Amino acid sequence: MHRELTKGVYYIGVDDHHTEYFENLWKLPFGVSYNSFLIVDEKIAIIELVKGPWAQEWIENIKEIVDPKDIDYIIMNHMEPDHTGALPEIAKIATNATMVYTRMASGMQESFYDVSLEQKIVDDLEEISLGEKTLKFVHAKFLHWPETMMTYLMEDRILFSCDAFGSYGALNGKHFDDEIDLRMIEHESRRYLSSIITSYLKFIQRGIQKVKNLGIDIEMIAPSHGPIYRDNPMWIVERYDRWSSPELENNCTIVYGTMYGFTHRVAYKLKEALENLDVDVKVHNIVYSDMSDIIVDTMRAGVIVIGSPTYDAYPFPPIGTFVDELEGKRFAQRPMGLFGNYGWGGGAIRKLKPRLQEDGFEVLEPTIRVRGKPNDEEEEQIRHLAKEIASKLG
Ligand SMILES: Cc1cc2nc3c(=O)[nH]c(=O)nc-3n(C[C@H](O)[C@H](O)[C@H](O)COP(=O)(O)O)c2cc1C
Ligand SMILES: [Fe+2]
Ligand SMILES: [Fe+2]
Repeated sequence: MHRELTKGVYYIGVDDHHTEYFENLWKLPFGVSYNSFLIVDEKIAIIELVKGPWAQEWIENIKEIVDPKDIDYIIMNHMEPDHTGALPEIAKIATNATMVYTRMASGMQESFYDVSLEQKIVDDLEEISLGEKTLKFVHAKFLHWPETMMTYLMEDRILFSCDAFGSYGALNGKHFDDEIDLRMIEHESRRYLSSIITSYLKFIQRGIQKVKNLGIDIEMIAPSHGPIYRDNPMWIVERYDRWSSPELENNCTIVYGTMYGFTHRVAYKLKEALENLDVDVKVHNIVYSDMSDIIVDTMRAGVIVIGSPTYDAYPFPPIGTFVDELEGKRFAQRPMGLFGNYGWGGGAIRKLKPRLQEDGFEVLEPTIRVRGKPNDEEEEQIRHLAKEIASKLG
């Protein structure tokens, strides 16, 4: 199946309704699309490919419009295999095509696929003429890999922005922003940004600034996942801008684990104490919330509180995974609260506190260690911690 974006420019991507977790990590309740585009001019170009198992469906889409043997350029904005897995398949057919990418992508291509088609390494802002249409390549380092670029179709003013401005959610034949319920996309694109790009938020800001500075008109934004924005391209740019801004939000998110409910009890007592102080609070039980939703609600929370029972003298293992995530995703500095629960020697907070401090976070006092249900003194500590949090959020 294909769809015309504008004269001579086609959507030839595919929907994935099978993969349960993107990157084997992030849930996909509505699937995901691998967007790919075909431009037919004197020269024929493809921008982005699809994930390996979808190669045949994708090649069928191309065949609806042109003979894939006639493809002149295979443009790869990004080497991650969700966009390039089909390269070896198309390379067998489009034997005269030239692969177009950045210098760093070239090395990755060799290591990932070792396809021996001709290649053209493009510099930042270099252009290629396809006949009537011209492509300009805009390097977008670390958005979200180091080799990434975007491609701008100058005459039609379409920005093929790669993963930037992308979203989870398959398209189901509705390719454009004006055909889709954007409330779903608002949630799925924020979850996408948070799970995939949080480590590189400043590169989103740089990318947006760079495109603005180029002074180019943008009529359509065509990312590599999710809808194409033709009705209001700024809708997604504004959201990506806001969600990646370094400013933290004036709220607190509590993330806790629990086996038998004791830590849960402390979490909700703290929530109540915070709400009594008019603090906006979100709470996640780490086992029942998807990590991507937890990242959405913590990446910009003014204060994060972590609660963990002790498990074999260590924090509850999924809490350790959350701390791995906030380290890997380079969460901005902010105050952190900690509370734990134990049965005998404890250990969760003893391990978590220095780890967070080494990461540079200010750990608020009191750090609360409860044995089972909180006693009066510990109830007082909960109220005390709530006051500390409220004062930090001011
Ligand atoms: C598998 C398992 C391992 C545990 N390991 C420890 C431990 O090493 N040290 C400790 O003080 N308590 C340990 N505990 C006890 C719990 O930390 C304690 O019961 C706590 O109150 C549980 O909180 P929860 O109800 O929120 O799960 C362990 C409990 C379980 C089930
Ligand atoms: Fe990617
Ligand atoms: Fe991607």
